Order: sequence, then C-alpha cells, then structure tokens
Amino acid sequence: MSNSQRSAQLNSAKLARITNSGEKIAMLTCYDATFAKLSHAAGVDILLVGDSLGMVLQGSENTLNVLMTDMVYHTRCVAAGAPDAYIIADMPYSSYESGAEFAYQNAKLLIDAGAHMVKLEGGGNMVEIVRSLVEQDIPVCAHLGFTPQSVGRLGGYRIQGKTEESAQIILQDAIAMSDVGVSFVLLEMVPAALAKNITEIIDVPTIGIGAGVDCSGQVLVLQDLLGIYSGQAHKHPDEFKSPRFVRNFLKDTGSIQAAVAAFVQAVKNKEFPAAEHSY
Ligand code: KIV
Repeated sequence: MSNSQRSAQLNSAKLARITNSGEKIAMLTCYDATFAKLSHAAGVDILLVGDSLGMVLQGSENTLNVLMTDMVYHTRCVAAGAPDAYIIADMPYSSYESGAEFAYQNAKLLIDAGAHMVKLEGGGNMVEIVRSLVEQDIPVCAHLGFTPQSVGRLGGYRIQGKTEESAQIILQDAIAMSDVGVSFVLLEMVPAALAKNITEIIDVPTIGIGAGVDCSGQVLVLQDLLGIYSGQAHKHPDEFKSPRFVRNFLKDTGSIQAAVAAFVQAVKNKEFPAAEHSY
C-alpha cells in the first residue's frame, strides 16, 4: 500500500469516527492544490471538488458546461495539494444520467484521480444508477433538494420541498438513496424542518447547504465563505446578491486560513447556519 493510500484509509477512519460520534461534519468546496492544503490544515473534514467550479472558476451562468475532463483535472489538483484529505468529487452534467455502466466508467475516472467518493444529483430514476455504483464499491453522496444541474427544470435558484407533496418526494428519495447504500445525502436549499426530519429518519449523515443547523454537517462554496464570488463572469458585481445561506467568514477574521478555521468551528459548535441563513 502506498503512503497516500494509507493516509486516505486513516482519513476514512477519522471520518467514520466523526460521523459515528455525532460531531458535525465540515465540508468545503475546493478546486486546487493551494486551497486544498490550506483547508485541510484548517480542519475541514471533507473537500468537495464541486461542479460549482463551472461558475466560480470558469465564469459560466450555471454548472451545465462542466466536463468530465475538468472534474478529473481539478480532482487531481486537490488530491496533490492534500493527499491526506478525504475528497468527494462531483459527477458533472451528462456523465451519469444515461445509464449505470457509463456512470461507473466516469465515477472510476474520478476515483482514479484521487476522489474517495463521488456525488451526483437527483433521486427518482438515479436510485438504480446509485445502487449499481455502490455495488461496484464506488462510495456515493446523493445530492437532493435544489439540484443545480436541473436549474432550468426547477425554474431557477429556488428553495425546494416547500409544499407537503414536494417535501414527501425529497424525503422518499432520501430514504431510497439511504436504502441503496449511499454514504451521505446532501440537501440543498430545503426548509430546515424538512432537513431535520430527513436527518432523523435516514441511516446516513446529511450535509446541508441552506438546509438548517440540524443536518449532520454543512458545506459551503469556498468563494462564498470568503465573500469573493460576485456572480457570473459576464454580469456586473452590483447585480449579484449572495444567497441567504451564505456567511462571509473572512469579514471578521482577517486571513483566509482564519476564515476557513472559523467556518469549521462554527459548524462544529452549531453556530452556523443560524436561523437567518436557513429557510
Ligand atoms: O458543486 C458544488 O459546489 C456543490 C455544493 C453547492 C454543494 O454541489
């Protein structure tokens, strides 16, 4: 076993200890080696190579133009910067929806690039694809609620699960994903009460973004945490209003390292998200 395989295994064990102990999980997006090193040293439990890189790095309107080659490249960069970190990589749009074998081939590319788990969006007919990935030993995080790759179908950046019917669909999807063996369910922009209910019912930890303090952990986009994302490249910064769930941790800290460490502490102490960041 190589040194990096050994430390990744140690990191999986550390993660299992945190999830079993009930300690809140701090996850942060990361796309390059420098921030990977810094975030890991600041105590972030999981680095997420999110397809949000389409917006924050590539300047796109949404995440739909991100390619597998982009995700493999950035996953490699993150793994190089923090070989001991636990890394989840996003499966980009069109890399998994068409069938289990195609999804497996692409997931394997991300694992080979240094990810320990892949994340994909959607419930419903994604459940069988996820079952197949898990059966082939690919750990999966299921992303439910607001799923950015479906921004068109969802009618924009909107909170999901507000009606009894839509809340039931998200709950049932979460149960189905938990039953087929996902390792995490990520809940984006859903009412805090729904996220709390899901967290109490399913067998795996939930990670929230705009989903209230009762999830098992929290994730933010690094550039949001630092208050430096000001919208799509072609738009004037004045047109951008950051979402309710974002908190600028740099404002009160003064260095990037301290801001990331403050995020980790605020998640662990259940100070973030506060009610003002939740729906
Ligand atoms: O791509 C991403 O950064 C994400 C987070 C918003 C959770 O999926």
